[in-house]
Amino acid sequence: MRILKLITLVVMLSFQSHLFAGEGMWIPMLLEQYNEKEMQEMGMKISAEDIYSINHSSMKDAIVLFGRGCTGEIISKEGLLLTNHHCGFGQIQKHSSVEHDYLTNGFWAMSKEEELVNPGLTVTLMVEMRDVSEQMMAGVESDMSQAQRSARLKDNAKEIVDTFKKDSEYNAYIKAFYKGNQYYMIITETFKDVRLVGAPPSNIGKFGGDTDNWMWPRHTGDFSLFRIYVGKDGKPAEYAEDNIPYQPKYHFPISIKGVEEDDFTFVFGYPARTNEYLPSYALKMITEDLNPQKIKLRETRLEIFNTYSNKDPEVRIKYATKDARVANAWKKWIGEKGGIQRMKGVEIKQAYENEFQTWADANNSRSVTYGKLLPEFEQAYTELTPLNEAYDYYKEAGLAIELVKFAGYYSKLVNMVADEKDLDKKDKELKSLENRNKAFFKDYHQPIDEEVMAALLKLYDNQLSTDLKPAFFEEINSKFNGDYNAYTDYVFSKSLFTSQETVDGWLADFDKKAVKKIQKDPAYQMFIGLKEVYESKIKKQREALNFTLDSLQRIYMKAQMEMEPDKRFYPDANFTLRVTYGKVNGYHPQDAVYYKHFTTLDGIMEKEDPDVYDYVVEDRLKELYKNADYGKYADKDGTLHVAFAASNHTTGGNSGSPVLNANGELVGVNFDRCWEGTMSDLMYDPNVCRNISIDIRYFLFIVDKFAGAGYLVEEMDLVN
Ligand code: ARG
Ligand code: GLU
Repeated sequence: MRILKLITLVVMLSFQSHLFAGEGMWIPMLLEQYNEKEMQEMGMKISAEDIYSINHSSMKDAIVLFGRGCTGEIISKEGLLLTNHHCGFGQIQKHSSVEHDYLTNGFWAMSKEEELVNPGLTVTLMVEMRDVSEQMMAGVESDMSQAQRSARLKDNAKEIVDTFKKDSEYNAYIKAFYKGNQYYMIITETFKDVRLVGAPPSNIGKFGGDTDNWMWPRHTGDFSLFRIYVGKDGKPAEYAEDNIPYQPKYHFPISIKGVEEDDFTFVFGYPARTNEYLPSYALKMITEDLNPQKIKLRETRLEIFNTYSNKDPEVRIKYATKDARVANAWKKWIGEKGGIQRMKGVEIKQAYENEFQTWADANNSRSVTYGKLLPEFEQAYTELTPLNEAYDYYKEAGLAIELVKFAGYYSKLVNMVADEKDLDKKDKELKSLENRNKAFFKDYHQPIDEEVMAALLKLYDNQLSTDLKPAFFEEINSKFNGDYNAYTDYVFSKSLFTSQETVDGWLADFDKKAVKKIQKDPAYQMFIGLKEVYESKIKKQREALNFTLDSLQRIYMKAQMEMEPDKRFYPDANFTLRVTYGKVNGYHPQDAVYYKHFTTLDGIMEKEDPDVYDYVVEDRLKELYKNADYGKYADKDGTLHVAFAASNHTTGGNSGSPVLNANGELVGVNFDRCWEGTMSDLMYDPNVCRNISIDIRYFLFIVDKFAGAGYLVEEMDLVN
């Protein structure tokens, strides 16, 4: 039995050790060197130079970082920009009111004059990236402490960027790659006038809601349209009425041919964060310790949200955004934990580490530089685990009590006034708290929060060791006999933060009397208690260990590249522009089950349920379906394809990224991953890791046939 297991592991390992097509988020500037050949072998008909070039226009000139966390692509010569509905959600919501409920009904500007301005929204193009590793390493010695090293790197980065900016109109910043073994300067151009052009109703743009989130098969029309404007000189400018549409160097042609199983595709966008090179100890900590606890904490909250939402539609609306936010990561962690278990991720890493240790020990100088890495990792992660746990409880249990977090927002003002410090900033703080009060009470339902508090305190108390718990737990034991409900009742009956009138009243005339009241407030005291333990027992300790780990990870990365000189390593995602490529593919989510690679409008009609919020279907869509009125957007099988799955290695931040075919034509917009594959942030499994994209024809169909905004389609370049 044992031997059998070992053999399976070895077989799995040899599988694992050569990179699969599909895995990897590659640096656009290095595609020609590392990936072009493979991409072409997989079916790509264009060249790396078409994707990224600094000498002439290329696809990278049509990709933007949208807002703070998404990707968008330019699809017309007049700066029309496509991204996800969930990426434009904030803007759509801001323009929505009871009279103009664009969230519910959708929004379509019927001319450029009707497009809506979005103060604060920016999009950023990458102009160029440059390898600055050598300049960054100037004066960095191997015997420096990690602190000395960081200081030196910071100085070097500043100098490089300052020198560049002196004679450039562009912005620039430096990012570490391969755990700090390489550095690139990213040169960017940011546009500040970005207007909303169109968005489908939520029951299309968010069809399936949180029920279907992270899941395949999927039927969400997750897109929205914007337009970039520039000053009359063609340069980025703040909003002005007479700004003109941006004329991009490149925009994507759109293919209405559709995709077929095994077709080559690539995704070009801004993946935010992955951790593919962690040692087994870290993987174990994340998937066996931290994720299960965070899942439990969020589940507790979500169950309480649901109980109340099901009873009262008003509460459901109030908690819709909170619920979506809490549920999104919760669901992802479940998928991630299950995925690592299923693929035996920890065992695979352990076997790899055995190999690594043997390699390191085989040679004297290697054994000196790399021989102790793994035990040092083990030691650091052993120390880090309880601290990370305590940190998670601080954030996911302590600060998940809405009243406590709300009270905490007052600490800055309280300190200002109590210490008579920074009083010139007082007005600004008062203004921001005034808005905070409004936002807080608009979406607050106290009975939920009370129940959440009692439930979370119990979990908190049971899980953490005394020294990592806030002092109020002693009070709960001594004064309340360990009764969390009684303590909760006490806090909520005494706290003044439960009344909007009271907190607004303080702001009208904020003096030392208010400070005294707040300092005595039990919700505020809970916040202070949480913060105290965080700052004295968790924060610095975690920082120190993470410093150590940064250094270990940098060396470990370098060592792995030395051990396998022929393997192509890709750097972890770090919110820089990357290319990932794979094939359109279904998958086996479980024994005996196969999921096809595409979904259709028929599936929307199957899911339709007028009584379930997530599955309501518009009459207009039903009519189009009944008449099979799909125009040129129908697939050759006669149905209307809605979404497709492919093996491109994507992550958060890739939302809104263009999915391109072998010719570099737009065939989809990325918006999610399948649940069985969400562990790809830690370890990629080609068998089940799939990104989920809207079929571009569904987007065109909705714009043209559903919304009657065909004039927008005319602006685009459709190809067959
Ligand atoms: N899971 C996707 C992502 O991580 C979509 C999230 C928005 N959609 C939702 N139903 N909450 O961002
Ligand atoms: N929905 C995610 C985003 O907002 C993309 C899904 C993923 O993590 O792959 O970026």
